[in-house]
Parts: sequence; structure tokens; C-alpha cells
Amino acid sequence: MIQPKKYAKDVKITPKSLKLPDEFFEEVFSDKETIWMGQNTNHLYNGNGIMDAMINCVESKEYCKYPPPEGFVELKDLILKDLNLEDMDILVTAGGTESLYLCMNDILNSQDNVITCDPGYLIIDEFASRFSNEVISVPIYNRENGYKLTPDLAKENLDEKTKIIVLIDPLNPLGSSYTKKEIKEFAKIAIKNDVYLLHDITYRDFAREHFLAADYAPNHVITIYSFSKIFGMAGLRIGSIIASKEIINSVRTILINDLGTNLIAQTAAIAALKSKDEWINKVIKTTRNNQKLIKECVDEIKGVFIPVYPSDANMLVIDLKTTEIDSEIMANYLFDKKIFTRQGTYTSKLFGDNYLRVSFSIPEKQVKMFIKEFKKGVEILRKS
Ligand SMILES: Cc1ncc(COP(=O)(O)O)c(C=O)c1O
Repeated sequence: MIQPKKYAKDVKITPKSLKLPDEFFEEVFSDKETIWMGQNTNHLYNGNGIMDAMINCVESKEYCKYPPPEGFVELKDLILKDLNLEDMDILVTAGGTESLYLCMNDILNSQDNVITCDPGYLIIDEFASRFSNEVISVPIYNRENGYKLTPDLAKENLDEKTKIIVLIDPLNPLGSSYTKKEIKEFAKIAIKNDVYLLHDITYRDFAREHFLAADYAPNHVITIYSFSKIFGMAGLRIGSIIASKEIINSVRTILINDLGTNLIAQTAAIAALKSKDEWINKVIKTTRNNQKLIKECVDEIKGVFIPVYPSDANMLVIDLKTTEIDSEIMANYLFDKKIFTRQGTYTSKLFGDNYLRVSFSIPEKQVKMFIKEFKKGVEILRKS
């Protein structure tokens, strides 16, 4: 018998919590009519060259070769150029998820502590817990601190064991983000206390304004980059880690994907970055307008509200607390109407009952269907 690890992962939560995640996703995938508002994926793609690049790659049969293990130079250069971080080092990975895991594995020792926030992207806490002494998940679901981990909160929770502060910016699930002043302050904290700032910028391009901590503390910041959201490439599984040469050299020693990241995905990523200027404004315009439509709907319903508006990501949170509707029941209700959203417990251990998370980088027509069903759902399910 294999002994379970002390950090053995909890079973993932699905809207239909009686089902195993894989069964659930088989069902979502097989029903092509399902409206996909549950994973912050982006479904607004049209003629951006990504598909052509992949078809060309397949037709050339290049995929029978292994790619360079750390990513094609062209792709690495394009990512660094996208961030204006040309002096930094980079590794191409199979997504932000692999990037996060590699950083936790490489940086942490069993006596180290990590600071994260709740709500947040819980897989980060889970990875951190595998390699650290303690993960301090700071409660941030309140107006006073702007629904985010502030520099003051980070300082309050910092001790001599702290090794990493995780900054998800914009934050999944709330869409809160950071000002230049706050990012500079975090950079200062990292330098002064000699801790690493893990800056997860997966939703960066949806933000109205965004600042890279790496610009202010290049030797203490690790930037996590993903192609899953703004580029609409979640299923291709590609991302990267950007940091100083010293940090990346260290991560190199614990790589898993020794033979490189999917070649077709890399080809698509190159095309995505090269064409970004041509399509990004349209994606942003549609997502902002969709967000506005959701806000107008929520404003009309007694007792529900959006804690962070506008959200700087492609998702937001709808607080249902005063209606006494369990967010899982709401997610299940919507799922029966073929709308996939996420109950709060997917992104929070402390406040999960309060809210439903919905992403909105989907066609406006689908957002309108959500609005119709959500309104009805609140009236049917509300207890107060
Ligand atoms: C904050 C955050 N980081 C990383 C990821 C994972 O990204 P990827 O699809 O590149 O693995 C997600 C996915 O939702 C996320 O919300």
C-alpha cells in the first residue's frame, strides 16, 4: 500500500459535488451548449492566427521532434518583450500551474512559511503546503482592505520564517488589483526582508492598469505568466516563469518537463504574441461590456452585490450572503440551465459560502442568458 503524503490533495470541488471532477468535466465537455463561465477561460477568439499556426505546425509534422527543453528562443524573447523584462531569464512551462509548482518546490524548505490570501487561487496554497512549514492564508474578504492582500497585511503576517509572499494580481476570484504605489511597497518589503514575491500575473492584460513588481525588485520577484486567459489557450497548456538568472538557474535543477513543452502549443503562443496588438482591444471591449451588463443585473436584485467593481480580471464575484442562498446550490441551479459557474468554496476556505464566481470572456449573447437565469435563480432560491 502507498502511504498518502501528509500534503495529499483534497478532492477537487465541482458544481455537482457528488461527482468526481473528471466525470463532471466529461459532462461539461460533451455538452457543447454549456456556457463556460466557470474557469475564467476566454472564448472570444476569431481569426487571430493562432489556429493557422497550429495547423501549419501539424501539417509540417514538426511535432514528431522534441522541442528545445526550455522553450523556443523566439517564444522566450516574445514573452520577455511583452513584459518589457528583456534583462530577465525565462523558462517556458506547461502553464502557470507548472510554473507555480516548480517555484514552490525549488524555493521552499520545510521550515519556511508562505503568505497567501483567502479568497485566492487555492492550488497555490496547496502546492506551497507540500514544501513548507506553514501557509498563512490571510483573510481579505472585506472592504477595509479593498478585498486584497495589502502591503500592511503582508507586513503583519510576516515573520522570520517567511520565504514567499504570493501576490495574485489581478486576483482570482475577486478581480482586485494593485496600484503602482502598492507594488513598489511590496517590492520594498521583499528586498528589506529578503523574501521572494511570487507575482502571478495570469490576468494582467484584462486590467485597466498593471504594474510589474519585477521592475522594482528584480532579484526578489518571480513572475508567473500564462497563455490560458487573455490568449484563450487554456487547453493548450502553456505558460512561463520569469525571474533573475540566479533564480531561474535554481529552478532549472528541479525541472520535470525535461524534454520540453508541447511544440504545437509553443507555435500557437508565438502566433498569439505576434498578433496580440491586432485583437486585444476587441477582447477587452467585449469583456468590459459584459461585466457592465452583469453589474446592471446585480444592481437590480435586492440583497446581492459585487464586492469589486470593476473587476480588473475576466471574472467577478457576486455576493449572495444576505439572500441566504448557498452558492453551491446556485451553481448547481445554473448548471442545470447549462451555465457553468463556480461556487465560492472553489476559491475560499473561509468565505466560500458568501459568493458565486462568474467569468465573462464569452460572447455577449451568452452573458445575457446568464443574466436571465441568474435573476430567476435568485428569486426561486432566496430565503430572505
Ligand atoms: C491565479 C492563477 N494562476 C494560475 C492559473 C493556472 O494557469 P494555467 O492555465 O496557465 O496553468 C490560474 C487558472 O485559473 C489562476 O487563476
